[in-house]
Amino acid sequence: MNNAPIGIFDSGMGGLSVWRNIRAALPDESLLYYADAAHCPYGDRGHDEILGYVEEVVRQMLGRGVKMVVVACNTATAAAIGHLRDEYPNIPFVGMEPAVKPAALSTKSGVIAVLATRSSLDGGHFRRTSAEFADRAKILSAVGEGWVDIVESNRENTPEAFEAVRKVVEPLVAAGADRIVLGCTHYPFLTSVIKQVVGDRIVSLVNSAPAIVRRVKELLSANSLEAAASNTPVYDFMTSADGDYLARLKAKADAACKMDM
Ligand code: DGL
Repeated sequence: MNNAPIGIFDSGMGGLSVWRNIRAALPDESLLYYADAAHCPYGDRGHDEILGYVEEVVRQMLGRGVKMVVVACNTATAAAIGHLRDEYPNIPFVGMEPAVKPAALSTKSGVIAVLATRSSLDGGHFRRTSAEFADRAKILSAVGEGWVDIVESNRENTPEAFEAVRKVVEPLVAAGADRIVLGCTHYPFLTSVIKQVVGDRIVSLVNSAPAIVRRVKELLSANSLEAAASNTPVYDFMTSADGDYLARLKAKADAACKMDM
């Protein structure tokens, strides 16, 4: 038993799409969420630069006594997960990657689309996974241009968001994709807009958050780190940005618990 918080971090508010699932599935666990918003977006930065930011975030979260770290960011995982595991062999780390496998194994049309940041798509890991499933499905990929910024500034329900999503999603669906992999944790916040663009065409959105929850549960149990059933969970938030951002982050966390994504 260990009542210390689970650390969860992202470049910004996107990781709340993972945080909400962990919170719902593990109601006894305290959670410490860190948004590295002073450096958001990570998506157009190089891996070495991102690694430097991630190391600082993890150092701060470990300083607050977290018992496990969930890298709720595909871009940070691609750039840093190997280094983190080498540097802190006694801390369990859970990383995120675009869910290519379930999409490639379930597609009916034989075409899937992976949406992620430029940095994630450029990573060796994504290239290797794509090569592995290339005989199961044609894999299209695209960057959700401008989407992170829209989610960071709460502009999901605007005509501008619809247009930004339409521009990216329409060509992928027109090319036959019937699975859209949300390979950036900000993108699930645009789920309802993506569904509007897709309309009545048969397309499923694939989000890795449920798989991450399963992995968190496995690692808590394997390391005897579960919180006691008597623990009263505490939900804390930190950011490298200012107090105004912190207030918006908390408000978005409350809203995320009620969203359909
Ligand atoms: N949410 C992050 C991800 O899952 C990246 C967003 C950014 O570009 O900072 O990749």
